[in-house]
This record gives sequence, structure tokens and C-alpha cells, in this order.
Amino acid sequence: MNDGDTTSAGDEKKVNHFEITAGGTLSDVQDEFEGLETVDDRHVIGRRIVWHEETESTNDDARLAAEAGEQEGLVVIADVQTAGRGRMSRTWTSPPGRDILFSVLLRPDVTDLPKMPLVAGLAVARTLDAFTDQPVTLKWPNDVRVADRKISGSLVESGSSKTGYFAIVGTGVNVNMDAFAHPEIAEIATSLRTLTGESVSRREVMRKLLFEMDRIYSSPEQMGRLVSDWSSRLETIGQEIDVRWGGEFIHGVAEGVDETGRLLLRDGGGELRLLEAGEVTTQLSGQ
Ligand code: BTN
Repeated sequence: MNDGDTTSAGDEKKVNHFEITAGGTLSDVQDEFEGLETVDDRHVIGRRIVWHEETESTNDDARLAAEAGEQEGLVVIADVQTAGRGRMSRTWTSPPGRDILFSVLLRPDVTDLPKMPLVAGLAVARTLDAFTDQPVTLKWPNDVRVADRKISGSLVESGSSKTGYFAIVGTGVNVNMDAFAHPEIAEIATSLRTLTGESVSRREVMRKLLFEMDRIYSSPEQMGRLVSDWSSRLETIGQEIDVRWGGEFIHGVAEGVDETGRLLLRDGGGELRLLEAGEVTTQLSGQ
């Protein structure tokens, strides 16, 4: 039971007690994810973990909690989502019991809000480094890719409540799904199991992922170098790309990112455009 007991050391918050509760019926989800609360080297993220056997979207669950005044660090995990969504109004496909689907409630300083997708992308990439020998790269703004295919994505939604601004960082990681069984993503997605040929423990991936997210988010030093660490994995830089931006498509060369992760795109007319959260649709490498 979480009694909210925390200690402070400088500006570091250290959580002493974690709580994990079941939102749905107890099942494989419990077997796989319980024990995460025993990790005592996290500071903020994962101080309360709720899991659901089935939910519409973990982002919605976390948002409701945020609006009800929940403190930051809540993690909502689901075994399956009935209305999981991705960026650009897409659906997020994941069969029951295979992958990691979770959302984290954060209450960062408002100036750090734009960096929340970067926290998720970098934490996933560092996590996956431990589970595959292949390079793990990022595609702006927050797709995580291995072997030229997408393995993870994050949807960050923000809002405000009586207790201030919040960000819901929702992430899906393809752990054991067979992308080939889903025609709509068969050509573009992969999973750890597809890459390694072996079933991978969701709990181990989740445990490392929460640790990595917390390590970045809770550390001023890590947050200070976030854009540089994140952009060193960006496969987009230097490439000719098409970006869907609002209703228009912009073609250009990705020259870099600014201090908050916005993409610097030199368009066909030579103008440098600053793009906050468009969508890289095509990467025409070498052309
Ligand atoms: C994307 O790449 O388009 C983002 C995908 C985000 C999916 C995750 S799964 C957990 C959380 N709940 C949702 O409904 N979406 C996010």
C-alpha cells in the first residue's frame, strides 16, 4: 500500500513505497506484471501502478486520474485496449497478452512539456538495447525502430486540472506480437519476438523501461542532455523526407532538431521550417 511516504535529498525525490493494484480481473496480467512495485531505485515513475486486463485506452485512464488530482508517477498498464490510439488519429493495434501498453502521468515544469515524447522515445530505445543486438533508432518525432521497422510509438497528450498542467505519456512496445498476422502493419512493424525468434518477458521489458524513464525524468542532468542523447539516435537527420504538417505535405531535408526537439526542415524553396509534431511519412534515404 502506498502511503505516499517520500524522502527528499537535494532536489531528488525518492519513493520508498510502491503500490500496485488491479483494475480488472486478476489473470495473466497480474502474473506478468506484479513485482514491478518492488523496485526501489525509482524516484517518480511507477510509484503507483494500476493494471487492467482490458480497457479502452490507458491514456484515458491516466487522464481521468490526472483530472481527479492524482500525483505524478502513476503508471496504467493494460493487457489489451479496445480503443487504443496512436498519433494522427490512427488506431494502435496490439493483440491481448502480447505487448506492452501503458501510460504514465507526469506533471513536469511547463517548459519541459514538449520534451515528454523525447523522454519516452529515449527510454524505450535504451530499454530495447538490452533485448536486441541490432541498432535501435528513432524516427522523428517519436517512433522507435529496429531493422527499418517500427517497434514502439508514444502518444503524448497534455491537459490541465486544478492541480496544474499534466502530460499523459502513452507508449506501446511490440514485445511478442506477430506483426505478419496483422495485414495493416505487416510491412512496417516488428516486435522483439520477431527480431530474436524467442518469446520475451513483458515484465522484464517493463521493469527496465520504467527504470529508464524514471532515470531520465528524475535527473536534471539527464534532462539537460536529453535532446542531444535523443537526437544522436535520430535516423531522420540529413535525410530527404516528406512531413505531413496539418493539412499540407512539406518536402525537404531534415537538418537537425532544436533545444525542444522541433525538427529543422529545409524545404524545397530553401526556407528553414520549424516543425513541432508533424509526421514523417516517407524517408527517401540517399535521394
Ligand atoms: C504512435 O506511434 O502513433 C503512438 C502509439 C501510442 C500507443 C499507446 S498504447 C498505450 C497508450 N494508450 C493509447 O491509447 N495509446 C498509447
